[in-house]
Amino acid sequence: MFEKIDHIGIAVGDLDKAISFYRDQIGVDLKNIEEVDEQKVKVAVFPVGESNLELLETTDPQGPVGKFVEKKGEGFHHLAFRVSDIEAKLEQLKAQGVVLIDEKPRYGAGGAKVAFLHPRSTGGVLIELCQH
Ligand code: CO
Repeated sequence: MFEKIDHIGIAVGDLDKAISFYRDQIGVDLKNIEEVDEQKVKVAVFPVGESNLELLETTDPQGPVGKFVEKKGEGFHHLAFRVSDIEAKLEQLKAQGVVLIDEKPRYGAGGAKVAFLHPRSTGGVLIELCQH
């Protein structure tokens, strides 16, 4: 049911600056930049092997990444697992008492179905499930 680590999301304050660090200094190839309205972010996607690195800049100070950066600063934001049946997985986790941020999947980058689990019940890590 878990297929791979789909991506790791890093919250940044200045996307151009962060892209320049990862692309020009570290040397990771940038694939594309897209805006995800539903999550109020601009996302820069860097494929690395089977997984992606995603840099997230908020487009709205009140959005989830905007609030995160204000509270905790830039840095690691979330870990995303790719699953084959997101609805079934959410149901199973809910039945096991895991606190869900999203009871039903929403749409994320690349048109994937995504849902977040609350860090309160995951040992402090914001976990995303996604299905492509
Ligand atoms: Co994500």
